[in-house]
Amino acid sequence: LTLDINKPGADVSPMLYGLMTEEINHSYDGGLYAELIRNRIFKDNKKIPDGWSLVKDNAADTANIKLMATSEEYVPYDERKHAINGSLTTCLRLTVEKASGRVGIANEGYWGIPVTPATAYKASFYLKGTERSEPFRWPWEPKPNTPPLADIPNNTPGPITVSIESKDGKTVYASGTIQLEKSMYWKKYELTLTTAGNIQPTKDARFVISTDRTGLYYFNLVSLFPPTFNNRENGNRQDLMQMLVDMKPKFLRFPGGNYLEGPLITDAFPWKTTLGMLENRPGHNGSWGYRASDGMGLLEFLEWCEDMGAEPLLGLYAGYSLQGDHVDSGPLLKTYIDDALDEIEYVTGDANTYWGAKRIADGHPAPFKLTYVEIGNEDWFDRSNSYDGRFKQFREAIEAKYPNLICISTIPATQYPSMSVKGKEAAVVDEHYYRNAWDMWENASQYDTYDRKGPKIFVGEWATREGIPTTNLNAAFGDAAWMTGMERNSDLIIMSCYAPLFVNVSKDSATGTRAWQWDSDLIGYDALNSYGSPSYYVQKLFNLYLGNKIVPATFENVPLQNKPLSKTDSAEGKKPVSAPTLFYSATRNDATGIIYLKIVNASAKKQNIKINLKCVATIEPEATMIVIKGNQPDDTNTIMNRENILPVTSTIKGIKTSFTKTIDPYSVNIIELKTG
Ligand code: AHR
Repeated sequence: LTLDINKPGADVSPMLYGLMTEEINHSYDGGLYAELIRNRIFKDNKKIPDGWSLVKDNAADTANIKLMATSEEYVPYDERKHAINGSLTTCLRLTVEKASGRVGIANEGYWGIPVTPATAYKASFYLKGTERSEPFRWPWEPKPNTPPLADIPNNTPGPITVSIESKDGKTVYASGTIQLEKSMYWKKYELTLTTAGNIQPTKDARFVISTDRTGLYYFNLVSLFPPTFNNRENGNRQDLMQMLVDMKPKFLRFPGGNYLEGPLITDAFPWKTTLGMLENRPGHNGSWGYRASDGMGLLEFLEWCEDMGAEPLLGLYAGYSLQGDHVDSGPLLKTYIDDALDEIEYVTGDANTYWGAKRIADGHPAPFKLTYVEIGNEDWFDRSNSYDGRFKQFREAIEAKYPNLICISTIPATQYPSMSVKGKEAAVVDEHYYRNAWDMWENASQYDTYDRKGPKIFVGEWATREGIPTTNLNAAFGDAAWMTGMERNSDLIIMSCYAPLFVNVSKDSATGTRAWQWDSDLIGYDALNSYGSPSYYVQKLFNLYLGNKIVPATFENVPLQNKPLSKTDSAEGKKPVSAPTLFYSATRNDATGIIYLKIVNASAKKQNIKINLKCVATIEPEATMIVIKGNQPDDTNTIMNRENILPVTSTIKGIKTSFTKTIDPYSVNIIELKTG
């Protein structure tokens, strides 16, 4: 492997590595967004409210819980009066007819409520303890057909207990009380629950609000937050944020992915109703089979970027949704364009703009830096071929108001020539690759020969898909090989981000149902713990150890491997295809002289590689080497074994302008060479 420092290499894109995110696999609800209560406004409105159950310490007591919705047909009309506002239209009613012990409601969280020692949890909820009275009726209205509530005694004022406890209720980890006023009106109650310092961490806990008095109790917006990253109100989980911050991503592509588009046009990411107080966020129908609370709203996404030092890369809904409906370019699309312009204004506007002022009122005075917006997502699925017109109309309107913003097209002409944008080409196109390790190895050099006269490339979603639910070591070799190709060509590949980022790896203990929808993800977690896949460490290290100039290099005599032939292929006498076993990239930091040499060995054989550094004036005899390796390609990390594969850093000696290094089998290697 010969690195030629004398040849001028192109610049490495300063935004090469970022992150991509969307609500999939419980990435936010039950993931990064730190809220612990599942279905806090009861909009997952099955008749038995999802996540909730009745608590009765004495089996002889009689009580039930029931959803009360203003909008659901099964709720008798006389009980449709419990909305707090247009967003909080469904509440939970606890009816306690007889209480000789504790009676209450329990929330199971997202596959458990995590409990850690000496931790202060912020609990809050709306509660109304209605006195029994005949429901209001206009004289001309019919009598309700519901069973009368006549036998239920009135509420009495007094304490309501709030606790975090084991699932069987036998161990109370933290508890407190609020005083219920004898009130017919909604009131918000807040308290802090603090765990003792000597408890064992567990996720096998539940959140309970209980009473020992009969009556009717109505609940809404029940919330429980552990401490959050940077102590942000309505903030993010600390461990997951730390893992992301450690990656030092340059940008965050959000809110999708499919989540941007929604199954139907009416399900597109509704950024306007994700702003401000949680009381004003009804949530919406997500794209991956479950409802989104929208606790992770537009400002939370932006503050998440801020906490990582990353720039937002904003996906704008462009009038096409997943089930195939689209809005053609023309007057109707203008509504969507206006909405996108408002959204950009919310992100970047100052106090003199309507939406900038709104952001300031929401608590963020400074505008956010925004360089790229993406028009839609994977619009090659739009078989009506409407993207050309939609993209143009969006771009013209955006450029007219924001001439410095770059609009990314979701359709690369190299892959979808007939569907891509015609006429004035998009400056940047988004390419997506979900492949197995073999395909990554085979295509790791694909960008070496790409046309440099075409648009710049954003690899906006990609992953080597091996391993469930998080990817394994072989996938990490596929990723690393692919990344060497992106780095060598980072004059062309200006940005890239892996997907999906997150997966809640929990399974329902009774049914075995998985919390996730997409196998092969980067970071796994349950309610309590989290871990990085081998791919996570590859992502992180490739970004941390990166220069600002590409070092031209040649790699001769790279051993090849043959792809095992399928039975049919061998029966047909086909010849096996081959791919390299070794992959490399080299970049240099101009200011420090440090060369970051990355070598991937995707084979079972160790490789002795002769490394020549041409035109290097001086080189330090010691270098830092970081290795990610394992014994088998399917070695991996799991929620139970979170640190099986970790990078190991060592110092290597005897470095000269020409030296031989043995590269371990199944390994990703980064060598930091200090040159002058
Ligand atoms: O990353 C998962 C999904 O893959 C994204 O939502 C979509 O854009 C792609 O098809």
